Amino acid sequence: MALYIGIMSGTSLDGIDVALVSIEGDNTLPIIRCRAARTTPFSSALLTDLQQMMIQPVQHVAHVGAVQNQLAHEYALAVNQLLHDTQFDASDIHAIGCHGQTIWHAPDADSPYSIQLNNAALLAANTGIAVIDNFRAKDLALQGQGAPLVPAFHHALLHDLHSDRDDSHDQQTRAVINIGGIANVTLLPAQGLITDVLGFDTGPGNTLLDTWCLHHTGQTYDKDGEWGASGNVDNALLQQMLSDPYFAIAGPKSSGREYFNRDWVLHHIMAICADDLAPCDVQATLVQLTAHTIARSLHHAKNETAPQSIADSQWIICGGGAHNPYLMLALKALAPSKTHVIDMQTLGIDSDALEAMAFAWLAFCYEHRLRANLPHVTGAQRPVILGSKTQHD
Ligand SMILES: Nc1ncnc2c1ncn2[C@@H]1O[C@H](COP(=O)(O)OP(=O)(O)O)[C@@H](O)[C@H]1O
Ligand SMILES: [Mg+2]
Repeated sequence: MALYIGIMSGTSLDGIDVALVSIEGDNTLPIIRCRAARTTPFSSALLTDLQQMMIQPVQHVAHVGAVQNQLAHEYALAVNQLLHDTQFDASDIHAIGCHGQTIWHAPDADSPYSIQLNNAALLAANTGIAVIDNFRAKDLALQGQGAPLVPAFHHALLHDLHSDRDDSHDQQTRAVINIGGIANVTLLPAQGLITDVLGFDTGPGNTLLDTWCLHHTGQTYDKDGEWGASGNVDNALLQQMLSDPYFAIAGPKSSGREYFNRDWVLHHIMAICADDLAPCDVQATLVQLTAHTIARSLHHAKNETAPQSIADSQWIICGGGAHNPYLMLALKALAPSKTHVIDMQTLGIDSDALEAMAFAWLAFCYEHRLRANLPHVTGAQRPVILGSKTQHD
């Protein structure tokens, strides 16, 4: 058995997730378990800097350098706190897998790139643990999207897990729906091989909800969806937003806040001259947008899997959106009748730690020279070993 630590801080900027993960058994389908996890908010100064960078990507390099160092310091504090809480020593941990902080994701640019801030040397020095990061770059270098990277992890994680109510999981298509800032889905066909796994970013998860809420209420997110639930869905605006070309593109595709942001919402409001809509009505409509784009994507993806299995499928929800009851209600209302919608928690997995676990597993893959990208998911020319390693000594 080996212990790894995964670090994830997503586009929502809600904090730093760290997970201590044990991995044992067969390298290709190991047993992966989360031993402990915690989420630490960013310091307010760092949060302001990161928010600013996402809105205004043109920054002086000196500032970028300083922010990157501060981020690595805060990652190290989170790791050291986790070690302290669990009474493990740095020498017990094989490596850290660190996603870094995405500032700009441009896989479809003329010269594709995806920028995750981190200072691996500083993180390694301040934890005493080797760091593997920069996981998206090689997939992008091979004409892939560099995202999503979690579908192979979902396959590795869930191969031996099923809920108490679900004895027939081998016969069911399972869809993992991760509702972070951006939402992504993984389709795990019944008795599927890794080559049958599908996955892509469906579009906005919480990001438009957060940004609209912040602008109109001053709160960083709409707690329990209460503000959105107080509004009325505007069907014309919903249809207008659903007509955005991103939703019609088949995968491989990935996205981020550089596309789905407040300007995007305002553009669609203007397009139907609906600027007199109450802000809470827009929020209610954005909830429907997230739910519809997820449900539609899964519906379209059924053409690529066995239709009978998707009819009797299981939707496993994870990510921060799972904590929004109003959003969950909207999603359940759109699920096909035979679909069981469950929370990842039902499988005994801390859904908030899931992505951090994924990066711990990606570090494991690097160490075992396992090629972890799925070319039919990311569009890369071939499978490749992801990441680069910085030793601590
Ligand atoms: N109680 C809640 N009510 C509504 N939304 C919530 C709640 N808890 C978390 N969220 C949403 O989840 C987001 C964080 O989700 P997360 O999966 O961490 O995303 P990311 O990977 O982008 O960091 C928050 O920004 C918020 O929008
Ligand atoms: Mg987060």
